[in-house]
Amino acid sequence: DFMKEISGFSLIEQHLKDKLQLDHAIVVPGNSDDHDWVKQDLGKACVQYLKSILKQKQTVAVTGGTTMAAVAEMIKPFPGANKCMFVPARGGLGERVENQANTICVEMAKKVHGEYRLLYVPDPISEEAYQSIIGEPSIKEVLEIIRDANIVIHGVGDAVTMAKRRKASHHILQKIIDGHAVSEAFGYYFNEEGKVIHKVRTVGIQLEDLYKANCVIAVAGGKSKAKAINSYFKQGKGNVLITDESAAKELIRGF
Ligand code: F6P
Repeated sequence: DFMKEISGFSLIEQHLKDKLQLDHAIVVPGNSDDHDWVKQDLGKACVQYLKSILKQKQTVAVTGGTTMAAVAEMIKPFPGANKCMFVPARGGLGERVENQANTICVEMAKKVHGEYRLLYVPDPISEEAYQSIIGEPSIKEVLEIIRDANIVIHGVGDAVTMAKRRKASHHILQKIIDGHAVSEAFGYYFNEEGKVIHKVRTVGIQLEDLYKANCVIAVAGGKSKAKAINSYFKQGKGNVLITDESAAKELIRGF
């Protein structure tokens, strides 16, 4: 069954923990680049892990993307979850509605009969609009909840793939390419050493906030994301990785 298959990867998981300096690593079989069911298994594994750590009255912040959408698809009610609050980690990042953090957050909260708060902030926005929006009392209140989240669950993507998917301007795309960015998470683009190359101006979780969370879980798989996952963990603010066999093997092999 599912758990048995997972435990078959305990050696790979140990390697990953050592290599990326994680508290916990979970590997599911397959390659999510090739098969959607692998992404669903990533979702299942994430839900299972969340279940094991979530305590009543905690806040869970989530990002967008297709992997996070699979987490929302797989979640089911579990004890205590109805006493928790779900929030989007950041404002809009140019994803399709079904893959937006707000949508994923509502789906997760509804399925576990928990609470949720949403962020209505367009993105990208001008510095002026940004400053005035974050000054709004109703936005401020949600932002405080988000930045104090106990658990953060997020996707990781390949930098150039994400810049294109978000229809970044030519100027930004060039900055990302010239800066040799390889990964993206939370609207931050990182190079191979984990240095920030570009940051999308939007409200919500900032990299510094991740230190305050009890647990920061990255859910990302597929051989094509191995480099991105390696780069993201170089900046050292996440502590759990849920990935698939192909990404894990590629990560361990090195590039
Ligand atoms: O845009 C939200 C986001 O979580 C990004 O931060 C990340 O790079 C991407 O989605 C991952 O998307 P997917 O799971 O579809 O590869």
